[in-house]
Amino acid sequence: MKNIDFYMTEDGSAGLYDENIKDIYHSKTGALKEAYDKFIEPSFLCELSEKKTAINILDICYGIGYNSKCALMYKNKTNLHIDCLDINSDLIFLSPFIKDNIYDINLKLFLLSEIFKLGDISYIFYERKFNRIYENNADFFEPSIVRLIQFLITKGYIYSGSTLNLSFLHNIYYNYISTDMKNDVKSLKYINSSISFKFGDARLTLQKLNKFYDVIFLDAFTPQKAPELWTINFLNLIKNKMSKNSVLVTYSKSTPFRSALIELGFFVGKIYINDIDMGSVASFDKNKIINPLTDYDYSLINTRAGIFYEDYNLSLSPSEIINNRENKISLSDRISHTAFRKSH
Ligand SMILES: C[S@@+](CC[C@H](N)C(=O)[O-])C[C@H]1O[C@@H](n2cnc3c(N)ncnc32)[C@H](O)[C@@H]1O
Repeated sequence: MKNIDFYMTEDGSAGLYDENIKDIYHSKTGALKEAYDKFIEPSFLCELSEKKTAINILDICYGIGYNSKCALMYKNKTNLHIDCLDINSDLIFLSPFIKDNIYDINLKLFLLSEIFKLGDISYIFYERKFNRIYENNADFFEPSIVRLIQFLITKGYIYSGSTLNLSFLHNIYYNYISTDMKNDVKSLKYINSSISFKFGDARLTLQKLNKFYDVIFLDAFTPQKAPELWTINFLNLIKNKMSKNSVLVTYSKSTPFRSALIELGFFVGKIYINDIDMGSVASFDKNKIINPLTDYDYSLINTRAGIFYEDYNLSLSPSEIINNRENKISLSDRISHTAFRKSH
């Protein structure tokens, strides 16, 4: 967790800044709001949860989990099965502790209980030095969850793996977190959903998942910073996990990314927020594309800007991927996008 700073976003949810990458993880206008606007709404999740009893979601680049948490908030009576990928396991473990502007204690207990399965939570809290991070950044932590950990520690409880049981969490809920609300909540309502985590480079972890997903969130850093998760070859892996009705959603509107999606045969559309193009949706079902790309977007894709990133064996470093694309651009006889923009 070195080199990560916190900041408060405008909707009261905490955001992260990565000193190494020199980039923010979340929109300053609201980390939770961004999850809803760019991932939940365009994926048709709310409509889908009216129709299906179970929905499979793949959350590529879980981070501290806003997209998955937001999906759980809007799941209605449907059961969600969410597989999450991230290279940084610290963030996954940190995610239930973050002040995220979600005041649904059941959701937080559900996340905690799933993380309990990966290891004893109080050990995780100390081993990963979250106590120190908490001491320096208390405003960005959810106090009830931190108090819960402190309570477990003072009582000497060790709960993990097979010793996990939801009735324990249920008891914690009644006995510790919300004695005032004892009569309001009858059970943990996320009990029939599941969320699982795979740590490591998504190019490898994704190959180990043998499932089709209804909804896929792609929330990698920008193509300039993490091109390995925007290459045509990685997108092809994603494509193999999608059925005819699935949707892929992302905040990115990058031209090489959209170009690769078209090359792979997807219908591609834009996510408009306040009339501004703020992301992309891809599907093999044309009906899922509310705002298709325009003729101008297609023309742009035919310029040099539309030359996509490639990583044939899913093993190149970011700089190799970027350099290879730049070489291809320099040899291309396509019009440059600057010349194209000037002429339109
Ligand atoms: C923009 S952040 C995602 C924010 C996240 N969705 C959230 O709600 O907090 C990008 C994430 O990509 C992860 N990441 C970077 N390179 C990766 C890779 N090759 N495979 C998997 N995850 C990666 C980072 O650890 C980081 O959590």
